[in-house]
Amino acid sequence: MSSDSEEPNLMHCIYASTASIDFSEKDIELLLEKCRKNNAMLGVSGMLLFEGNSFFQILEGEQKTLEALYKKISLDKRHSHISKIIVEPIDDRDFADWSMGLAPLKMKQLATIEGLNDFFQSGQCFTDLDDSRAKKLLNAFKEGQWRSSITE
Ligand SMILES: Cc1cc2nc3c(=O)[nH]c(=O)nc-3n(C[C@H](O)[C@H](O)[C@H](O)COP(=O)(O)O)c2cc1C
Repeated sequence: MSSDSEEPNLMHCIYASTASIDFSEKDIELLLEKCRKNNAMLGVSGMLLFEGNSFFQILEGEQKTLEALYKKISLDKRHSHISKIIVEPIDDRDFADWSMGLAPLKMKQLATIEGLNDFFQSGQCFTDLDDSRAKKLLNAFKEGQWRSSITE
């Protein structure tokens, strides 16, 4: 198994946050438009989940670029309670096809992900995820049943 990355210092940063404004579908659309434009320029890819007033975002890219982007996102007043869950090097991008994909899933669907049934059924939100549960969520989109639901 090779650990050589074709892209130097490739990382992913996974965080959750709580919306501090009432995001309409249109607001999310506009936010994604901005994300996609910026991320394409920065060489950042990833995906976003927004449900039950909370966000779960996966960002992939070069370490320094991600650090700067995360800092900028953290300062955005439209969300709060921002908690970094996983930051680690990766060999390859899991979401290379999306400068920022959207996974339009509802709690009911999320609660069918293996290992996360109890978690989502009990009404917990993304900011309550620990790293092991976040990995399960990541895997459901990385290689699991929900990958095909990601839209650009
Ligand atoms: C939940 C959430 C996720 C965001 N994700 C990104 C992102 O992936 N890329 C990005 O450029 N901006 C993202 N933003 C927006 C930034 O906080 C900021 O408003 C934007 O980058 C400013 O872009 P500008 O410097 O081109 O005006 C996000 C904001 C929120 C609330």
